[in-house]
Amino acid sequence: MNLGSGDALDVLDALEQGSESTYFAFTQASEAEPARTGKARRKRRGKGRAQPAPAPAVRALAPIPDVLAGRYRLERLLGAGGMGLVYRARDLLQEGFGDPQPLLAVKLMSDQLATAPDANALLFNEFALTSRLRHPNLVRLQGFAIDPQSERGFITMELMRGTSLDRLLCDQPLGLAWAQVREIAVPLLDALACVHAQGVVHGDLKPSNVMLGDDGLRLFDFGLGLALDGPLAGLPHLSHGRFEAWTPAYAAPELFEGGTPSTASDLYAVACVLYELITGRHPFERVPSLKARDQGMQLTAKAPPGMPGKAWAALRRALAFDPEQRRVDAGQLRDAFAAQGFWARLRR
Ligand SMILES: Nc1ncnc2c1ncn2[C@@H]1O[C@H](COP(=O)(O)OP(=O)(O)OP(=O)(O)O)[C@@H](O)[C@H]1O
Ligand SMILES: [Mg+2]
Repeated sequence: MNLGSGDALDVLDALEQGSESTYFAFTQASEAEPARTGKARRKRRGKGRAQPAPAPAVRALAPIPDVLAGRYRLERLLGAGGMGLVYRARDLLQEGFGDPQPLLAVKLMSDQLATAPDANALLFNEFALTSRLRHPNLVRLQGFAIDPQSERGFITMELMRGTSLDRLLCDQPLGLAWAQVREIAVPLLDALACVHAQGVVHGDLKPSNVMLGDDGLRLFDFGLGLALDGPLAGLPHLSHGRFEAWTPAYAAPELFEGGTPSTASDLYAVACVLYELITGRHPFERVPSLKARDQGMQLTAKAPPGMPGKAWAALRRALAFDPEQRRVDAGQLRDAFAAQGFWARLRR
């Protein structure tokens, strides 16, 4: 993806093929310091074509060393998203002291983003937010450091072993049985409700950012996370007015129109994920929501056997194109999914 410009509508066509990857583009030249205000607001774009913004100054990029900060040996690339590279690593210090479990995961910025002067601040934003959120179904972060040799920032975190929801969906192209959907949806929505209760928005919910592991479900990748209000709003963060970023198939229409990520846009995204788990299909055939709305696309699937009508109705509400019509929050959606249906109650 190109850095440096990015009118949302201009890039939609180009992105439809890669609708699983996060699109990220700076909209203004960088400042040296990350913003410190509590309320970041993305700049509204006028109708029509935006002028291409000047690309941020690019800094020279040193290769990633085999051992970061003299301590973390990178062993294997686990995943490469639109923004980051995640490696399995070995903590040589802990291993030296005889720790039997020295493996962890390390996240760095992708080469493309690492050249921007704000790259380390962006990664620190992810660390600062996620490390303060506590929930059994959120990824556990350990630390943030800068490798002195390459000057690349990196996050250390628990090594999750398991299957991401996007892989699960590849293996189950017709969707999952209601009981299985429920087992995934309840902890996922519980984690999201906890995040929202702290005034934080995830900003990039999608199947590849949820892992089903040996230790249960984990929601991760707060790279586009934002503390809107509440106790974490004072954390240093980058202003969302300076960049635009979303994953096309999961971004709510208001994000393409210049809106700031919100609990309502998270709800739209998580509802897309749940709909996919239930039916095996994206609610709008992977068409970005802005286009789906303008083309008048409708939800076509029916509630699967066993799914309570209230849960189906709540899910449909969360998929409304108009954020004002998404009158359900993550806690209410969790409660609707947690409730036993009529047949399940009878069988008990
Ligand atoms: N702690 C971890 N343990 C194991 N694998 C991980 C871990 N964190 C990330 N991964 C793997 O690396 C991939 C990329 O990680 P992540 O989603 O954080 O990067 P990203 O570049 O921000 O992605 P995106 O394209 O969603 O922006 C994940 O989809 C997952 O497969
Ligand atoms: Mg990701």
